Amino acid sequence: MNATPPLNQQGREAYSGQIKNFSKERYISADWYAREWRAVWAKSWIAAVHVSDLTDPGDYVVFDLGPESILLTCNSAGTVQAFYNVCQHRGVRLVDDHAGNTENFRCPYHSWRYSTDGDLIYAPHQEGFQEGLPQQTICLPKVRCEEALGFYWINLDTHAEPLTVFLKDMLPIMEHYEFGNLTLVQDQTVSINCNWKAVLDNFSELYHVHYLHPQHRRFVDCTESLSECYEGGHTRVWVPGATTDSLFSTPDKPTDLLTMQLEAFGLDPAQYEGKVDEIQAAIRVAKRELEKTEPYYGNFTDEELTDVIQTNVFPNAILTYQPEMLWLMRLRPHATDPNLCYLDKLSFERFPYSEEQRFLEGTDNLKEKRSESAGKNGRPDWESFDYSDVIAGKATMTDTIDQDLSLLAHAQQGMHSKGFQSCWLNEIECRVSHFHEELERQVTAAD
Ligand code: FES
Ligand SMILES: [Fe+2]
Repeated sequence: MNATPPLNQQGREAYSGQIKNFSKERYISADWYAREWRAVWAKSWIAAVHVSDLTDPGDYVVFDLGPESILLTCNSAGTVQAFYNVCQHRGVRLVDDHAGNTENFRCPYHSWRYSTDGDLIYAPHQEGFQEGLPQQTICLPKVRCEEALGFYWINLDTHAEPLTVFLKDMLPIMEHYEFGNLTLVQDQTVSINCNWKAVLDNFSELYHVHYLHPQHRRFVDCTESLSECYEGGHTRVWVPGATTDSLFSTPDKPTDLLTMQLEAFGLDPAQYEGKVDEIQAAIRVAKRELEKTEPYYGNFTDEELTDVIQTNVFPNAILTYQPEMLWLMRLRPHATDPNLCYLDKLSFERFPYSEEQRFLEGTDNLKEKRSESAGKNGRPDWESFDYSDVIAGKATMTDTIDQDLSLLAHAQQGMHSKGFQSCWLNEIECRVSHFHEELERQVTAAD
């Protein structure tokens, strides 16, 4: 008998497993949407902008969240602040582009102007304000904004706990990845015809991977993954990388992806024919040897050097990372409709210090590609599209995510059927269950 408990039973100290069966209402009802907005979105810390987007005086980014639009700015002293993006004259949305740099913000309606500190600095026809222009009292209302893990996070609740308290279990597991030092290489948003939680659920379980993403068996070992649940609804999963799925027979030769990984670290794929199960250890050794020129490899455990780790920060941030990369996938609800949502995918790369390593990893090309782009300092342009564009092959977010997107709209249609009332979760979906338990706790507590 195997004395080791099944992997999906490990590392789940905060997991109760109580919520396995819950009503579809939370995906489709307007009432649940309103309760969820009050209890969760209006009170949670939300990762809004990578630090690299707000470095120079005058930099700004607009971050839309449900019915709200938030303006993050960098003032003349380099301080980053967040404000409601709404003109205080008659309520017009002040800034309607995605990001940029400006001396001040001019409302397109009657030309009121605000500084990067959110102060009202000018309004035309001042003589018409019989009690004087209330410059001292009028300013853009502030939103809480704090920095951690390479991002500025916002919170609509002025009384929210500090971000570092909220992230207390998350900081020690991710800080050493130094996400703030990574470079944004792609910035995408897709609108999807489903509730935001259907997407989050999808990215919180590996139950579907063998069936919907058969290609994964050739580059990670989902069968040996380890799921973990943290207080506050956060979760993490470790997926062994630089290997193939242990449920299937080991290939004789390195797969395409393993070949690329070997070559990126100066190893000869031909040496691993018939020895594919030795690749993971070899890549770990190669990364350790690189510590002299790429010292960040010294930050990581052996497992972290090769595993693909995904950490979900409640409620909506999905961080997938290895030492060389990060994806922030982030769900945002539609302004009014529970049947619609947005998925942002921000892709980051770590460019090695040494040119030789950049060449081996192929990231020298990426850097060039990025500097050709039109945006600030070569920042990639924001790409925004609909999930139907992905299905039609006009846009892609990687083969795997495209496969997920092709299914998610169908999931929402099914939710509306009289023939479907509630979800039934498997133990493999423990991270889905853990998230929904915290969601329900917060929504119920706020009623
Ligand atoms: S609404 Fe902005 S200046 Fe009038
Ligand atoms: Fe998937």
